[in-house]
Amino acid sequence: MTNEMMTLLHGEENPAENQGAIVPPIFQNTLFAFENWEAIDKAYEDPTNHCIYTRGKNPSCDIVEKKLAALAHGEKAKLFASGMAAISAALLHFAKPKGHVIAVQNIYGPARNFIDHYLVEKMEMTVTYVTGKDVADFESAIQEDTCLIYLESPSSVVFHLQDLEGVSKIAKRNQIKTIIDNTWATPIFQKDLDFGIDLEVHSCTKYIGGHSDVVAGVVIGSEKDIDQIFHHEHALLGGEMAPFESWLLLRSLRTLHLRLEKHQKNAWLVANFLENHSEVEKVYYPGLTSFEQRSLAEKQMTGFTGLMSFELKTNDIEKIKGFVNHLKIFQIGVSWGGFESLVYVPAISYLKEMTEESFEKTGLSLGNIRISVGLEDAADVIEDLEQALGSICL
Ligand SMILES: Cc1ncc(COP(=O)(O)O)c(C=O)c1O
Repeated sequence: MTNEMMTLLHGEENPAENQGAIVPPIFQNTLFAFENWEAIDKAYEDPTNHCIYTRGKNPSCDIVEKKLAALAHGEKAKLFASGMAAISAALLHFAKPKGHVIAVQNIYGPARNFIDHYLVEKMEMTVTYVTGKDVADFESAIQEDTCLIYLESPSSVVFHLQDLEGVSKIAKRNQIKTIIDNTWATPIFQKDLDFGIDLEVHSCTKYIGGHSDVVAGVVIGSEKDIDQIFHHEHALLGGEMAPFESWLLLRSLRTLHLRLEKHQKNAWLVANFLENHSEVEKVYYPGLTSFEQRSLAEKQMTGFTGLMSFELKTNDIEKIKGFVNHLKIFQIGVSWGGFESLVYVPAISYLKEMTEESFEKTGLSLGNIRISVGLEDAADVIEDLEQALGSICL
């Protein structure tokens, strides 16, 4: 059994401490009582390592934090109530009033909104968005006051990669901190911290949770950064993770390896099927042999998960609607990374917020379809796509 498998199944757990219970109990309590003045006084001297109040530290969260830190090769991790709570905490940790941020263009929408409407409007920071496919994009965007580079690799929607080693070298040379959203690849398939990235964030709502029943986030990094986040962004903004949710994540971690293997296998078959289908213009999936950044993918990733998008040849909205409505196994919904196959069409929300013209400027077409390939049998999933694609030419 690999060390990673041991971490997922047994790491940080000791049944003997809990009367042999094979699954640790949930510490469903808000506070921890102390025997005397001296005991609570001692705990206050080092609150990051003592359970005092659940908004700070709770054993049910502790186990998961230690497992996630080990998986990501980080020193410490801190769980948050959502991926966005983790992302905003990480950004605020390195943000400097009136400083400059470089961020990748196609990051998760609300992360971009946080930068634009919080860091820029409230902290008077400036931001430069780069496509990020080339290390030179970052180098040429650096200013004297650049304090932070924010990455997401693969990025949302178009799945562009950033060269993690290259970007972190440039950042270190210029005393700039780096954060990456690694939700897509998970700490199993991409070890950002090994490439020199300072902080790694995840929406644990996706593959780490995997059962579509828990919203959660995590920040992983050095002990120094995570302890500072513990005292500031975590404790003061109060986006702590509930013990029950942490316990659900503990359950999820036990099968993360197995689930990822199946997502990867299914997604590879689906992506190849779509790439060869006459109604499909292009498939965006880093696991494809034809993926344009294939050598970078092989350098910094050890596997590929199940989220991809593809462009239909048609731009006829009625035909696109027909395709989506014909799907039977794929359920229509936001989010991804769970056991179930999902379909989402960016045009559904974009057409409410923008004109068709401004939508085109996003680089997406109306027929851009995002699918999260779940754990069903690949043959069934492909059959479902085939019959729905067949509806387009009716
Ligand atoms: C890439 C990415 N990062 C972060 C998030 C935010 O996570 P959460 O919904 O847990 O706040 C999402 C949610 O869809 C996402 O797709």
